[in-house]
Amino acid sequence: MNDSKEQKSLRVIITGGSSGIGKAVALEMAKSGHRFYLTGRNEERLQQICSKLNSLGCDAHYGVGDVGSETDVENHFQDVKKKLGGIDVLFANAGVGYFGNLEDLTIEQYDAQFNTNVRGVFLWINKVLPLLKKQNSGHVIVTSSNLGMKTGARCSLYAGTKHAVQAMVWCLRDELKGTGVKAATINPGSVDTPWFDEDVDRTKMLAVEDISKAVRFIIDQDETSNIDHILLLPGKQ
Ligand SMILES: NC(=O)c1ccc[n+]([C@@H]2O[C@H](COP(=O)([O-])OP(=O)(O)OC[C@H]3O[C@@H](n4cnc5c(N)ncnc54)[C@H](OP(=O)(O)O)[C@@H]3O)[C@@H](O)[C@H]2O)c1
Repeated sequence: MNDSKEQKSLRVIITGGSSGIGKAVALEMAKSGHRFYLTGRNEERLQQICSKLNSLGCDAHYGVGDVGSETDVENHFQDVKKKLGGIDVLFANAGVGYFGNLEDLTIEQYDAQFNTNVRGVFLWINKVLPLLKKQNSGHVIVTSSNLGMKTGARCSLYAGTKHAVQAMVWCLRDELKGTGVKAATINPGSVDTPWFDEDVDRTKMLAVEDISKAVRFIIDQDETSNIDHILLLPGKQ
C-alpha cells in the first residue's frame, strides 16, 4: 500500500448494501470519503445507511429492487450513471443461502439462490464491464465464500452458486489481462451478520470488519499487484 499517494474519490456500487457485509464495506470505505450507490430490497435500511454515509460527509444514493431482475438492475445502472456520473468499483455482494440435505431443498430455494447469487452477479458485471474497460480502470469484487472453493454436506446448492461466481470471476480475470481493470473475490467462512438466525452462536465467527478491511485492501492495492481472491477463516477456534 502506498500511503503517500493521494486517495482518489471512487464511485462505488454495493449490491446487498442494506445489511451485513455490504453495509460494513460502505462504512469502511466511507472513512476515505468515497461516493456510493447501494442496492437491496429493504428501502428503510438502505435509507438509514445512506443517511449515516451522508452524515460522514459522503455522497450516497440507493436503489430498491431485486438483484436478479434484469429490469431492476438496468434501472439502477442508469440511476448510478446519472447520480455518480460513472463507476470505479462494483462490489457484487447480494446473496442468500439455504442449507440442508439435497433431498430436502426446494425448487424455490434453488431459484432464490441462483437468481440472487449468480444471475444478480452476472447482470451487474455484464452492465458495468464495458464502462470499466472503456476507462481502462476499476474493480469488480464479488462476495464468493470459502464454499466457492470447497464443498461440504448440507451446502450443495449454496456452494454450487458460489463455485459458479468463482469460475465467472476467474474466467473474467483472463479476459481482463492487459487492461487496467481488476477482478477479485472475497471468500469468507462464517461471518457474524443478520444472515444467521438469532439463536445461532456467532461468538467464533468472523466479524464484518474482517471482510470490509479485506475489500478495502483489494480496492487500495497498487498498480503493481492484481489480487485474485482473499480467503478469510475465523481466528477463534
Ligand atoms: N454471513 C456469512 O457467514 C457469509 C459467509 C460467506 C459469504 N457470505 C456472502 O456474503 C454476502 C452478504 O451476506 P451477509 O452475510 O452480509 O448477509 P445479510 O446481512 O443477510 O445481507 C444480504 C444482502 O443481500 C441482499 N439481498 C438478498 N437477496 C436479494 C435480492 N433478491 N435482491 C437484492 N438484494 C438482495 C440483502 O438486501 P435486502 O434484504 O434489502 O434485499 C442484504 O443487503 C452474500 O453473498 C453471502 O453469500 C456470507
